[in-house]
Amino acid sequence: MNGRSADMGPYLLGLRLSGRKVLVVGGGRVAQRRVPALIEAGAQVTLVSPEVTPALDDLIEAGRITWHARPYQHGDCAGAWLVQACTDVRDVNAAVAAEAEAERVWCVRADDKDAAAAWTPASGRVDEISVAVTAGGDPRRAAGIRDAIVGALRDGTVDARRSRTKPVGVALVGGGPGDPGLITVRGRQLLAQADVVVADRLAPRALLDELAPDVELIDAAKVPYGRSLPQEEINAILVDRALAGKFVVRLKGGDPFVFGRGGEEAIACAEAGVPVVVVPGITSAVAAPASAGVPVTHRGVSQEFHVISVHVPPGDPRSTVDWPALGRTEGTLVLMMAVERIGKIAEALIREGRSPETPVMVVQDGTLPTQRELIASLSTVADRVSAAGIRPPAIIVVGDVVRVGQEVGMVRAERVT
Ligand SMILES: C[S@@+](CC[C@H](N)C(=O)[O-])C[C@H]1O[C@@H](n2cnc3c(N)ncnc32)[C@H](O)[C@@H]1O
Repeated sequence: MNGRSADMGPYLLGLRLSGRKVLVVGGGRVAQRRVPALIEAGAQVTLVSPEVTPALDDLIEAGRITWHARPYQHGDCAGAWLVQACTDVRDVNAAVAAEAEAERVWCVRADDKDAAAAWTPASGRVDEISVAVTAGGDPRRAAGIRDAIVGALRDGTVDARRSRTKPVGVALVGGGPGDPGLITVRGRQLLAQADVVVADRLAPRALLDELAPDVELIDAAKVPYGRSLPQEEINAILVDRALAGKFVVRLKGGDPFVFGRGGEEAIACAEAGVPVVVVPGITSAVAAPASAGVPVTHRGVSQEFHVISVHVPPGDPRSTVDWPALGRTEGTLVLMMAVERIGKIAEALIREGRSPETPVMVVQDGTLPTQRELIASLSTVADRVSAAGIRPPAIIVVGDVVRVGQEVGMVRAERVT
């Protein structure tokens, strides 16, 4: 290390590279990882390499970097503020580093941390906060620590709020299908900042355990066959708490705008002059089939999928669903709130043209540890569902994509007999 002690820790700087030349020597995977961050920092990247990866080629094509398609030559470091020696040839990296050293330009070497004048920290950004970690030159360890810090900043475990950025009003947050890992980063951040949380039964319950003790938790459980808060009362709670200056998170299952009455809540807030943000969530309509291995679309099998609420059965005067059209289509049907009405649904689909042999999959408690699946056909599904004691919440998938799931061997249908 040029006679300097390898034991000394690095002196961390935040380089503001906007408009400054950075030389990258090498066009392989290391360069491919480094260049996007340099571009994001505004650097004028000059890349020297006889060949480049397709990802770097895209950046060249887009005019984001300048490429010299040739090997490194002495003199390439001229005018650079920073040099990245990223080739897989040690002697070339050493030559680049030597030229940079002579020019008093900082040089990072991917192949030899001890010979490098500078290290690239594992870095991350959360809003305006930049995190950079070095761990004695061990990049994996640094990346792990970076991930932990960035994750904690994102989910609010490390509270980096500035008081003026404290959210106000109501956030309608999609909690995802049930697994607490399937909420979005933004949803988790807002949840960590809530004064009041109004949660549905289908919102991921595990996330509620993490709330601080002083957070007011209101259970708006819409328990099937049980007691629930009427929608008007929920709207009133959201508005009242927000008008009292609290930041309210309305935590819902799946996506707030997919059969979640999120639109009604957003309108109620808007009418009361309460600021409202909507954080989309992963809907169970797609996630429950996926977690059972079934894609809702598949090339050559289904190029459409229909998501249908069957809270009222076919033939009911309140139903606005075009069952004849669904009987004619070859597309995937994803039925929600359908368990109790599956007999009438199957009858209607067969009557309207679907084959009785059409495969059907039922996924109860999708993405949760209690997930169960059942595979049947349109002609057998009603009996199978009742024999297996399937209960809501469940998604019912109708169509040949169910066979695709079986084909890839991910479906564990034997779990329900
Ligand atoms: C009122 S809807 C809410 C849908 C939710 N907004 C979404 O995007 O997933 C309730 C229905 O969603 C489905 N559902 C929700 N979570 C589920 C899960 N984890 N597994 C299977 N179905 C689920 C069931 O069909 C249930 O009856």
